Amino acid sequence: MTRIIDGKSVARGLRKRIAEEVTSQYRPEEAPGLATVLVGDDPASATYVASKRRAVAEVGMRDLHRHLEADASQEEIGEVLDGLAEDPSVDGILLQLPLPPGLDIAALVDRIPASKDVDGLTTTSAGLLARGLRGLRPCTPSGVISLLEEEGVPLEGAGVVVVGRSELVGKPMAQLLLQRNATVTIAHSRTRDLEAVTSAADILVVAAGAPGLIGREHVKRGAVVMDVGIHRADTGLVGDVRADEVLGVAERLTPVPGGVGPMTIAVLLENALRAAQWSR
Ligand SMILES: NC(=O)c1ccc[n+]([C@@H]2O[C@H](COP(=O)([O-])OP(=O)(O)OC[C@H]3O[C@@H](n4cnc5c(N)ncnc54)[C@H](OP(=O)(O)O)[C@@H]3O)[C@@H](O)[C@H]2O)c1
Repeated sequence: MTRIIDGKSVARGLRKRIAEEVTSQYRPEEAPGLATVLVGDDPASATYVASKRRAVAEVGMRDLHRHLEADASQEEIGEVLDGLAEDPSVDGILLQLPLPPGLDIAALVDRIPASKDVDGLTTTSAGLLARGLRGLRPCTPSGVISLLEEEGVPLEGAGVVVVGRSELVGKPMAQLLLQRNATVTIAHSRTRDLEAVTSAADILVVAAGAPGLIGREHVKRGAVVMDVGIHRADTGLVGDVRADEVLGVAERLTPVPGGVGPMTIAVLLENALRAAQWSR
């Protein structure tokens, strides 16, 4: 039997703990303030931002939203970010990605000071993570770690394969696992024999952005499989793992939806709270 990891329930618990910390530590007008910055009207981005703003309000934090027109220039967006960076009433800044074409995303992300970088995506935050120094970590890989810890899956000495090496998920995922003394292998699109690599893993984290990439043949019996992928299909949301094939082979599996996904916003809130606690 494969245990299905209930990310929704773990995320709900985390959000409840955050709400309790916020209300016990801050008066409402002084609660941590999270600024979401949305450029343009991409429907998917607008939906993501709306759900983040709702989550911010639900835990009693201050929702500080900025919406810029789709034709906002690099300099205009940069000035908004600089203003938020300097504003002491703003604890966290989130620049919703992707941005409209033609903008230098990396340069804009790096206008966010590491102390307010609740997405953990700036060059400084990546450096702090690589060095194992205190800092805000990317939300999705942190959420995967929280789920593994909540499930009591031992990481020390475990053979972990991460499929994907993006700045957003794969690379920080590998760093976080390494810090917990896992033996980490990173696979990517140039990996020669993906099946041989993944089928050796005690824990397999899949963040390839390729629907159904991982099937039964890729998974060792008794492995823990964390599916980060999210794709819209005719049948609804699907992941990078063919869940129906892996059921009965893996010891544990995160479903899509309801696995890793719900953890991302919960960790964002946790990062906003930490940012406030560390900076005040
Ligand atoms: N649950 C959440 O909250 C959440 C958050 C973020 C992302 N996601 C989802 O997670 C997935 C990955 O996101 P991302 O931003 O990391 O994607 P990404 O930037 O597109 O990176 C994908 C990575 O997977 C590798 N890859 C692609 N196809 C592969 C294949 N056939 N075999 C082996 N490796 C392959 C790529 O290798 P190369 O480097 O060689 O190109 C790349 O490193 C997406 O489905 C995304 O929607 C979910």
